[in-house]
Amino acid sequence: MQEKQITGFSKKSKQEKLRWVTGAFTDNPAQAEAELSSFWHPDERLQRIIDGFSENTISNFPIPYGIAPNFVINGKTYAVPMAIEESSVVAAASSAAKYWMDRGGFHAQVHATVKLGQVHFYWPGDSARLHRLFPRIEQQLRQDAAYLTANMEQRGGGITGIELLDLGHLEPHLYQLRGSFETCDSMGANFINSVLEEFAASLERFLQNCPELPQPARRVEVVMSILSNYTPDCLASAWVECPVEQLGEPGKEAEARLMAERFRKAVRIAQIDPYRAATHNKGIFNGIDAVVLATANDFRAVEACAHTYAARDGQYRSLSHCRIENGLFRFQLDVPLALGSVGGLTKLHPLAARSLEILGHPSAAELMMIVASVGLAQNFAAVRSLVTTGIQKGHMRMHLMNILNHLGAAEADIQIACAHFADKVVSFSAVRDFLAQRREAVPAIQP
Ligand code: MEV
Repeated sequence: MQEKQITGFSKKSKQEKLRWVTGAFTDNPAQAEAELSSFWHPDERLQRIIDGFSENTISNFPIPYGIAPNFVINGKTYAVPMAIEESSVVAAASSAAKYWMDRGGFHAQVHATVKLGQVHFYWPGDSARLHRLFPRIEQQLRQDAAYLTANMEQRGGGITGIELLDLGHLEPHLYQLRGSFETCDSMGANFINSVLEEFAASLERFLQNCPELPQPARRVEVVMSILSNYTPDCLASAWVECPVEQLGEPGKEAEARLMAERFRKAVRIAQIDPYRAATHNKGIFNGIDAVVLATANDFRAVEACAHTYAARDGQYRSLSHCRIENGLFRFQLDVPLALGSVGGLTKLHPLAARSLEILGHPSAAELMMIVASVGLAQNFAAVRSLVTTGIQKGHMRMHLMNILNHLGAAEADIQIACAHFADKVVSFSAVRDFLAQRREAVPAIQP
């Protein structure tokens, strides 16, 4: 048996890594190696680019890349690329998009695009004195970071503010420099982090060489310099609205009123109950993450930010709101989204570049509005199902298809199985038994 621990793994070639890991951790190394390498891209140049995104790469992990068409957002029609492994999500987004296309579409707005970064430091001196020095410090920080900000300024962005926060009431001698940034169409993480590290070095130099400070106060301990993924002012809203009666089919106004009222209550429950809020917001992220991933944006950053925002008053709540006033149904999502449509992997990843092309090369702000609208559509579809048919009906069909495909069912069997399970609970064993019975009864259609 091969050793399960290793030194120098990162130095090995891709083939050697693959051989080692399959040899040490799989039952059939030859088969595992063949399977993992079967997912390598046939275009070696492309595969090298993909390998370069991360470390210790041995294979690619495919997830479906789908399209949700008919998204009308602020009057413009989009076909939205979504990368997601969960069944029903793209179908639900597509159905909500079509539904709202006939009712005025989605409306969306970006309130601001401010990004934030922090330098945390301990300083033993007198707080009032540091505040008095701060205008000079700020000038120095900007001057020292100018070589990093020049390009961004030319694009209309850069540092928009620097604040000194005294956190001494929470932790003795702790301060924070909080920088605000405009990063235009890029997510800007590298830009912000470089500027913050320059701020830290500049602060140290300033205090060290400040003649009016006593010696002990010339020493500062910088703990860390890093952007904040909590960007509450990088906020987008998306909403849909229509008269309550128009929510249903013509002639079924009473049903529409009932649905609207149940829908409003379901969103209200997600406002007041964190257990429901988590599931409700998860439904929103089914849509958001899929587009964020398809455009090679950072979905972990987007999630961290929005979940913090959802808990901003001390309790985790729904990110969406619903109201019915004067016969008008309005459903809105407010979500901070720090996204980029240039830079990062947006050009390097061939499918991200293709997604952005399909979306019409949006600016970062336009992408924020698209992503917020898809999140809202996903949330609308999920809650509407929950308060009407229940979620399982739609899920079961996809589940059935996955099982049938897994069991290698023939086309004729698939159709008959769909009809058979239309009003029955779908489980792996029930589908397997059904297929076995079919094969016994009709041996000619064995796969
Ligand atoms: C499943 O991925 C998402 C839902 O649970 C969302 C919700 O309950 O609102 C259906």
